[in-house]
Amino acid sequence: MDGIRENRDKDYGIGIPVAGQGYFLKGSDNLDWGMKDRLARIFRPSTGRTVMLAFDHGYIMGPTSGLERLDLSITPLIPYADSLMCSRGSLRSVVPTTSGKAICLRYSAGSSILTELNNEVVLDPKDAIRVNASAMAVMVAMGNQNFEAKTIENLVRTADAGYKYGIPTMGVTAVGTDMVRDAKYFGLAARVCAENGANIVKTYYCDGFAKVVNACPVPIVIAGGKKLPELEALELCYNAINEGAAGVDMGRNVFQSEHPAAMIQAVSGVVHEGLTPKQGYEKFKELSK
Ligand code: 5RP
Repeated sequence: MDGIRENRDKDYGIGIPVAGQGYFLKGSDNLDWGMKDRLARIFRPSTGRTVMLAFDHGYIMGPTSGLERLDLSITPLIPYADSLMCSRGSLRSVVPTTSGKAICLRYSAGSSILTELNNEVVLDPKDAIRVNASAMAVMVAMGNQNFEAKTIENLVRTADAGYKYGIPTMGVTAVGTDMVRDAKYFGLAARVCAENGANIVKTYYCDGFAKVVNACPVPIVIAGGKKLPELEALELCYNAINEGAAGVDMGRNVFQSEHPAAMIQAVSGVVHEGLTPKQGYEKFKELSK
């Protein structure tokens, strides 16, 4: 009992109310500790944003340009990313266990580009736990006549497992070829993901993007899409961040750049440091020398 004996030096902080902690990500205040801990590994608490490096393309496309040898193209970029979005195959075979990065695990899988996309199932949550995933990413094919219901069911099942084990779910909006890529469509897709349990939504930038963000109660990250000239890709990042995105989940515009390490650092400058696209491009050129 020596250590708990009353004496005059003890400080109980009488009269000082315990401060509430709040949370830095929208829609996440009421989540459990493990969820918040994992989200804080993906999104930097200092900026509330993330640079997620996406290299999961091979799970439907095989050896995509720039991803033929993940060990050579992706491993050198890992230090510059906040989070890595990848399949469990590339995670286990290529990503060093010492990288210390938050893993956004590609959690749904099914058909490849050789057949009809989006006919997917989800993994076993135990495998997400085994690899210490910070999020589970599930494709949702909004507006797809054949697979919308099935992929929403995948999201619901993932979110159920996520709430059980404390792992956030990321809804990845897959755009069908016949869908109009506008704020009405992306706004609906993002909102449906969030309403069904997604803690993060990945979607695309579009005209009127601020409406998509504001109508979505959880953080949105944007995919980069097909390779653009670097300045245009940085403009895309800048506009998305300016209109409320909580970061990027970018692949081809990084790993297909002639200078991928320079590009991811320029993207990070725009996302975290408030660089303008021009400043980001200057940084890219400087680091490309
Ligand atoms: C593929 C994906 C990609 O991770 C996503 O599209 C981001 O990559 P990119 O910036 O190349 O579009 O979800 O299924």
